Amino acid sequence: MSLPIRIAPSLLACDFTRLGVEMARVEAAGGDWHHVDVMDGHFVPNLSIGLPVVEAMKKVAKLPLDVHLMIEQPGQWAERYAEAGAAILTFHYEAAASNFEATLEQYRATGCCVGVSINGGTEPEPLRPYLDQIDMVLVMSIYAGFGGQKFMPECLERIKKLRSWGFKGDIQVDGGITDATIGACAAAGANVFVAGTYLFRAPLMSEAITQLRAAAAAGNANEADVSVSREVE
Ligand code: DX5
Ligand code: ZN
Repeated sequence: MSLPIRIAPSLLACDFTRLGVEMARVEAAGGDWHHVDVMDGHFVPNLSIGLPVVEAMKKVAKLPLDVHLMIEQPGQWAERYAEAGAAILTFHYEAAASNFEATLEQYRATGCCVGVSINGGTEPEPLRPYLDQIDMVLVMSIYAGFGGQKFMPECLERIKKLRSWGFKGDIQVDGGITDATIGACAAAGANVFVAGTYLFRAPLMSEAITQLRAAAAAGNANEADVSVSREVE
């Protein structure tokens, strides 16, 4: 894979009493994007943050805001989250299945990098006809809604499928990412990695990010080994 490896620390796991300080900590530690989890209490049972907080984050952010919308009727909110400062804006396929084309068009019209996410129980087939219009596919490696859950290996086949269909954009994984799970995701073809609990609970975030990058690179190398041995056969 020639796509750059990106680490997107999920601020859902930060100390919200010090949000600006936590963002600065991510920036000093070498994160690539701020992953911002927006939940509405309907699409997912949990409720997190919304527009005013994203606007406030944008004022101090030195990294792109990677906004993950876990909300119903995502089409209605595309423009407002773009205006609030999202650089990458991701909505869930499941929340827009009945009017997917129109919703995708609304997101494309914002000018943001457009991400579409499939939740822990969703296969990627419905996205296949639209892959040339999608900048990033977020393959959830948990059921969206809460941090600190266990990685679901089912995501790996979905990532491989997307690459086997020729998808050349970013593939992001989110949920249960640690130095033990990131390598398999990279080997499958993912290149953007969200990590919340693992990074915010680490004794030193910069070291934990370095470990994630190394484990992802090792995963990529494994994939190269596999393809070499296949060619030899
Ligand atoms: C959950 C969110 C995740 C969450 C990941 O629905 O989308 O971004 O923060 O947390 P960890 O890395 O702890 O699994
Ligand atoms: Zn997320």
